[in-house]
Amino acid sequence: MSNITSIVGAQWGDEGKGRIVDYLAVHSDIVIRYQGGDNAGHTVINDKGKFALHIIPSGIFNPETTNIVGAGTVVNFETMATELASIAAKGVEVTNLFVDVRAHLIMPYHCMLDGAQEGSKSQKMQIGTTKRGIGPCYSDKATRSGIRAADLLDFDRLKNRLEMALPQKNRELSYFGLPEVTVDEMLALCAKWRDQFGDKIIDTVPLLRQAYEDNKKILLEGQLGIMRDLDWGIYPYTTSSSPTSGGATCGAGIAPSRISEVIGVAKVYSTSVGGGPFMTELFDEIGTKLQTVGKEFGATTGRPRRCGWFDAVAADYSCWINGFTSIALTKLDILDSFEKLKICVAYKVNGEIIKHLPETAQQEIAQPIYEEYDGWMSDTTNARKWENLPKNAQIYCKRLSELVGAPIKYISVGPERDQIIIM
Ligand code: GDP
Ligand code: IMO
Ligand code: MG
Repeated sequence: MSNITSIVGAQWGDEGKGRIVDYLAVHSDIVIRYQGGDNAGHTVINDKGKFALHIIPSGIFNPETTNIVGAGTVVNFETMATELASIAAKGVEVTNLFVDVRAHLIMPYHCMLDGAQEGSKSQKMQIGTTKRGIGPCYSDKATRSGIRAADLLDFDRLKNRLEMALPQKNRELSYFGLPEVTVDEMLALCAKWRDQFGDKIIDTVPLLRQAYEDNKKILLEGQLGIMRDLDWGIYPYTTSSSPTSGGATCGAGIAPSRISEVIGVAKVYSTSVGGGPFMTELFDEIGTKLQTVGKEFGATTGRPRRCGWFDAVAADYSCWINGFTSIALTKLDILDSFEKLKICVAYKVNGEIIKHLPETAQQEIAQPIYEEYDGWMSDTTNARKWENLPKNAQIYCKRLSELVGAPIKYISVGPERDQIIIM
């Protein structure tokens, strides 16, 4: 029996994955970020302070935990350096961090093209990307013209790769009226990154095989949530990788049969940042209250998050695609002052009631159908056991679990590491 757990975003992102990983990492040997790049904003509050992690895995605060930025990620070493420095400045030991040789590098032209591609779209078609170069970098990976971390360790190869890739990149840059880049400029930047991070770039397979043989505890940390998965999300308003549990096995290089648990992290209401359909979005004072009380502002871009009721139809789909063995409910305390609560249990599409998540175009016209529950109107932030929760909070959580189709393993009642109930 292995000891490998995937921590997966069950909704549209920002479910509290960082908070859950930080909590579990205390007893874990390895944490692997398996996809995405510095588009993540994983907020962690612990005895070291408050942090917004973008590419660094959320196990970094535990000195005994090895943190891996996995093969499925895209890495901007420029922002990684800044992020590491800001964490180190708060007294955190940041040496236990490695990047897989196969990870792709986010180059300056990827970030420039991300902004330009978004800018060329009509308002309605904009994805609202984080402009971190994620889409352009994964595009280059798919067309086999990407630059990988391994290339930093072999400059002849790197030069060849850049000479092959840059003519096309420069055509794209000039199409958008952006300044072109030269091979020499990119080589100089890569030389700086090699000097800073060269000893951190490793083949993680032998390390993970050994850890598996030794039955070490391994966490796979997802970025974003299923609704922005490239295959299973609200395409085209998605990211360019797979935050799902399937993506975890590909991105970390751990076979599905070796994963022992898949924990879906789900907020007890819904939020989404960026474009695309969002069926339970509230445009009234309740939505504003969720945003204010929940402090729903993006950790990477600072943008206000769109807020709405819990969407159990989307969560049921999420459970099916991800195969949750359990769920971690987060931000229960945010609902402490709501008299009435709603859960979306079906949609009306073109006059027909459906109980499954339809494809993007139909989501845009889907009207939510709700069940209503009484709130509990009392403070849950000090609850540390299920029995401490008010009856109505128990009823609400149980119903979420039933609708999602997975047992609850954790309930988070505050952003601090210890504000959690273990079931
Ligand atoms: P992630 O991207 O999935 O890691 O989530 P984010 O960090 O972007 O967003 C979650 C936000 O909610 C962060 O600001 C957390 O500090 C905060 N948070 C997480 N769990 C709880 C909770 O149970 N209660 C409250 N009040 N805040 C929480
Ligand atoms: P965490 O890990 C919420 C959204 C963007 C945009 C779409 C594509 O903190 O949950 P991208 O920059 O990836 O090309 O943007 O995905 N998005 C996020 N939304 N949380 C995130 O990360 C996000 N990362 C990207 O708003 O709609
Ligand atoms: Mg986030």
